[in-house]
Amino acid sequence: FTQIIKIDKYNTDITVKRAAEIIRAGGLVIFPTETVYGIGANALNEKSASRIYNAKGRPSDNPLIVHIADEKDIYTLGVNIDNRIEKIISAFWPGPLTLILNKSSNVPYRTTGGLDTVAVRMPSNIIANKIIKESGVPIAAPSANISGRPSITSEEFIKEEFEGKVDMIILDNNSSIGIESTVIDTTGDNIVILRPGFVTKSDIERVINEDVHIDTNLKDNTAKPKSPGMKYKHYSPNCEVYIVDGDNKIEKIYDLIKKDNLSNKKSVVIGKEEYQSLFNNFISLGKDDITAAKNIFKVLRQLDKENFDKAYFINMSDTELEFSIMDRMKKASGYKII
Ligand code: TXA
Ligand code: MG
Repeated sequence: FTQIIKIDKYNTDITVKRAAEIIRAGGLVIFPTETVYGIGANALNEKSASRIYNAKGRPSDNPLIVHIADEKDIYTLGVNIDNRIEKIISAFWPGPLTLILNKSSNVPYRTTGGLDTVAVRMPSNIIANKIIKESGVPIAAPSANISGRPSITSEEFIKEEFEGKVDMIILDNNSSIGIESTVIDTTGDNIVILRPGFVTKSDIERVINEDVHIDTNLKDNTAKPKSPGMKYKHYSPNCEVYIVDGDNKIEKIYDLIKKDNLSNKKSVVIGKEEYQSLFNNFISLGKDDITAAKNIFKVLRQLDKENFDKAYFINMSDTELEFSIMDRMKKASGYKII
């Protein structure tokens, strides 16, 4: 049985209490964060962490992010927390940034997928923060989606995927950021971005006054990427997604649509609002990069709801945030770039 609650100002306290009881008892709670919904359990308990992998159908070597509500808790989860790391967390926490640290012995290997490092993040979403505080334990939470499917940022998709598989689902307004946290590896000489997000390379460089590297292993699905999650299929809708790039991208799409029409394939174009008037079948991501980030996962799921066969995504590369959005889109397309 899954208890499902839409959060509002009248039921917040009781809902948070109930969620914390479930977490402490070893159960699973889906809760909102500012990035995407998370499916949470006690990060320090092997059995609870295992339940997360089962509910998501997630491969057991793909580690979980541990969520905390108080900056100080980083010292109980990680070791060798130096001045550079402290600068970063005081600039970006609470918020959409996850740090990979050398783990302390408190963190079970079940949570880290067998690694000696642990991913830690302090979310800014108030409900998430209250649940973690009230639970009294750090909460391991991957994105709340069946493994390989797009992440979820709006309440409508949660129930169909997780009702009956978790103990509680807490629904909130849409996520304010909409793409998952930036993941950075802090264990080497240089800070390395393993998953780009809302907090960007130049944001971090400004804070630490040194070069930040990016290593997202895009295209290259080798056997041992730095971040285990990168080798798995990601964000895939059932519809075939293509990214279209180049100066003549609009003409390219017109040609593709013509062919689709001839072969009775239902196709759609996705892009920023400025392209809306050029196409009949168009899904707008909104005016700017911030809005596009908020909408991206909803749009990916909408593709399946409307049974499109093919989707053409107009490449965006004007800002660092657009680069982060394209990271998701490249994965969703299976790197099919035209
Ligand atoms: O915004 C977010 O980060 C959301 C919300 C719920 O907080 N969570 C999330 O978790 O996106 P998940 O599990 O879907 O993605 C975590 C990513 C995976 O690619 C995983 O492989 C990587 O972080 N990761 C976790 N621990 C790691 C570690 N110790 N070393 C390298 N990569 C790690
Ligand atoms: Mg995920």
